[in-house]
Amino acid sequence: MTGGPLVVLVGPMGSGKSTVGALLAERLGAPYRDTDADIVAAEGREISDIFVEDGEEHFRALERDAVARAVAEHEGVLALGGGAVLDAGTRELLAGLPVAYLSMDVEEAVRRVGLNTARPLLAVNPRRQWRELMEARRHLYNEVARVVVATDDRTPEEVADAVLSAL
Ligand code: S3P
Repeated sequence: MTGGPLVVLVGPMGSGKSTVGALLAERLGAPYRDTDADIVAAEGREISDIFVEDGEEHFRALERDAVARAVAEHEGVLALGGGAVLDAGTRELLAGLPVAYLSMDVEEAVRRVGLNTARPLLAVNPRRQWRELMEARRHLYNEVARVVVATDDRTPEEVADAVLSAL
């Protein structure tokens, strides 16, 4: 098969999608692309502003369009936003692709991301919100993933190695 992404990274915020994605791109000699960045560029505003001004549902629709474009055009490493898998249309777009789920447990998420208010979904009580977020999404990440790589005790280099040997 030719064309399409070489690797698609999914997983919660803070799981290392962009860091690992950049490393993978370097190792594969392929370009890196990130749908969050595509959306910010296309909209000319930050994701947190899209959430506040137009709501999450609108953001998910923009994200689905961004994923559709990237999946059709991008022959490299592609990282998706942490909530992209919530949308059924987005999940369908990932069918048959080499998707790696970078998993992370709740305590590690609290340590890594904690109360980062630049991330619009974690404004209050981060531990409880992380628990709920993981419970709501874990099965969706698993559903789209061809491989699952636990990131908790691994450096980004080790995660990249694990993705490459598993795919
Ligand atoms: C989101 C994760 C973010 C971004 C948006 C929503 C989420 O992406 O798409 O803030 O719902 O988990 P990262 O996972 O790249 O931070």
